[in-house]
Amino acid sequence: QKKTTIPDIFQMKREGRRITMLTAYDFPFARLVDQGGVDMILVGDSAGVVVAGHETTLPVTMDEMLYHTKSVRRADPKALVVADMPFMSYQTGIEDACRNCGRMIKEGGAEAVKIEGGVNMASVIRAVSAIDIPVMAHIGLTPQSIHRMGGYKVQGRKDQAERIMEDARAVQEAGAFSVVLEGIPAQLAARITAELSIPTIGIGAGPDCDGQVLVIHDILGLCEKYSPKFVKHYAELTPIITEAVKTYVDEVRAGEFPTAEHSFN
Ligand code: KIV
Ligand code: NA
Repeated sequence: QKKTTIPDIFQMKREGRRITMLTAYDFPFARLVDQGGVDMILVGDSAGVVVAGHETTLPVTMDEMLYHTKSVRRADPKALVVADMPFMSYQTGIEDACRNCGRMIKEGGAEAVKIEGGVNMASVIRAVSAIDIPVMAHIGLTPQSIHRMGGYKVQGRKDQAERIMEDARAVQEAGAFSVVLEGIPAQLAARITAELSIPTIGIGAGPDCDGQVLVIHDILGLCEKYSPKFVKHYAELTPIITEAVKTYVDEVRAGEFPTAEHSFN
């Protein structure tokens, strides 16, 4: 199996082959996700919620994202590695954005970066793309905008739809190589996907996107705190892991582990 590249992702859209993406934040999960055959791995700032236990993605730092991205890189995945840019690493100006996106490539080993925003971030996407750092845009429900949205709510309903459509056009025009559509009506996502020449990657955006992305902890049933409607559990690992831990605890307490088999003479 050969390494997936940006041109491969474009080709998939042209040929109508659906693009698959999952998150990973560390070495073991990057190996598992890559062995499962995804086309792209997203080192998401969702790490702040599912790994670090924050309520939102806002506290996530550049140093934390670099740590996660480096850990994923060490798994040497065939999948294209896209690193999320954390809140305040690209919103403060083009120079900051270029420097921080550059760090994610140069130090983190990512092959592309992801930036939340549409019309408002077009100049940043243009500048970062111009220094040959591929940018995945992210529009619709953008979690770093939680305070403006007043919660994680579906975006682009009714008269808001045209605004999202304009965001989609703006990020393509600015040079993004693809765009995540999060939490928008399926009909709107279908319209955007039909109009754009760059691939759309949906999450809570219906079946008609060019690809799909989900958070790995969500699909494995490892994130019990909240589970939005768009998540499907492909496994329930929480009871399996809890049972293994319980058995270990019981065996140690009963003096059944370790045995001679697990001991040195
Ligand atoms: O951080 C993340 O995991 C994401 C995806 C859910 C799109 O941005
Ligand atoms: Na994110």
